[in-house]
Amino acid sequence: MPSPDLQSARIVAGALALLAREIREVGPPVDLWSPSLPPGFISEVAARVGRGEAAPLWVEERHPARGLAIYSPSPWESEFFGFGTARLLGPFMVAERQRDRENRVRKLARLAIDRALAGQARLITLKTFHDPAVLRGFLGEGFIMAEIGATLERPAPDEEAPAAVPAGFVFLGETELRPAGMAAEAATALGDFFYDGHYRHDPTPGPETACRMWRQTVLEDLTGAAAPVLALWDGRKDRLAAVATARIAANEAALSILAVTRPYRRRGLGRLILLEMLNRLRGKSAIIRAETASYNLPALRLYHSLGFVNAAPLAALHYHVHTEGLK
Ligand SMILES: CC(C)(COP(=O)(O)OP(=O)(O)OC[C@H]1O[C@@H](n2cnc3c(N)ncnc32)[C@H](O)[C@@H]1OP(=O)(O)O)[C@@H](O)C(=O)NCCC(=O)NCCS
Repeated sequence: MPSPDLQSARIVAGALALLAREIREVGPPVDLWSPSLPPGFISEVAARVGRGEAAPLWVEERHPARGLAIYSPSPWESEFFGFGTARLLGPFMVAERQRDRENRVRKLARLAIDRALAGQARLITLKTFHDPAVLRGFLGEGFIMAEIGATLERPAPDEEAPAAVPAGFVFLGETELRPAGMAAEAATALGDFFYDGHYRHDPTPGPETACRMWRQTVLEDLTGAAAPVLALWDGRKDRLAAVATARIAANEAALSILAVTRPYRRRGLGRLILLEMLNRLRGKSAIIRAETASYNLPALRLYHSLGFVNAAPLAALHYHVHTEGLK
């Protein structure tokens, strides 16, 4: 007898593979809203379930492809917020009728809330596509819309585009940026570079916590979590002007950080470092993806001017578990 986790892992892999096949074979409108489900993604999710790091929630246990979400505690976010935080992946479902989809999502949302209560998590977060039925389902169960994320993509460039570095500036790469001291300096230089310092648009965790999280993202990216990593150094003032990082998986690159420190903005350096990042991603991935808040017009304009086009937007949803009155 396989352990329950391995059994769940197999069921999850089977349900996602079935959904992937439906999307591939029938295409929209079978599931207009589901992202493509590449085999690498499916096996990674199933492996996490198999290791007991994530748990499947399903609307009908005997028909897992008709409504599945994956619930996992997020130690990283929990550490920063000082309370349990969980992430939800999905929903994944073969269900065409909007009312049916909404009801299925409501059930998944309630299952997730029950899990959070049982595991003493106080915040559930997820990013999902903009299917109105799915949004209504989550919002109907008390989730809030924390942010609309713009997603963008473009093919990796075939040819190197010239990126003329202004006098006195120099690009730094992995070797110079990996040492922890340098990474910490970069994180300090970037400061609270993300919008108003909120975690997405949700003020509850507080700006200080959000800033600590973004700082940690910079540290982790620069010390090994991302590759390539790139910085623009102002040799004349001996300080950092910009950072860009990316993460490559399964022939796709996701831009992670793109930030210009405040004194250097609007001088063409954002365009320069992004162009150089595109050059460095040549031959390493077929597609380059980027994500930013839909209201981040400077970033959107910059991406568009370098050939990125909009892909399906992502809604970031949060649920704050009301723990008052609970033991
Ligand atoms: C987005 C960001 C990287 C742009 O860097 P930058 O060095 O200021 O941008 P550039 O000077 O290279 O400008 C490139 C293009 O971006 C757009 N842009 C940049 N700042 C803008 C602003 N304040 N308003 C409108 N458009 C702007 C313009 O299209 C500009 O081209 P143009 O000068 O021909 O009009 C920078 O504003 C930043 O670090 N923001 C905070 C972090 C962030 O939001 N990162 C985005 C990804 S999460």
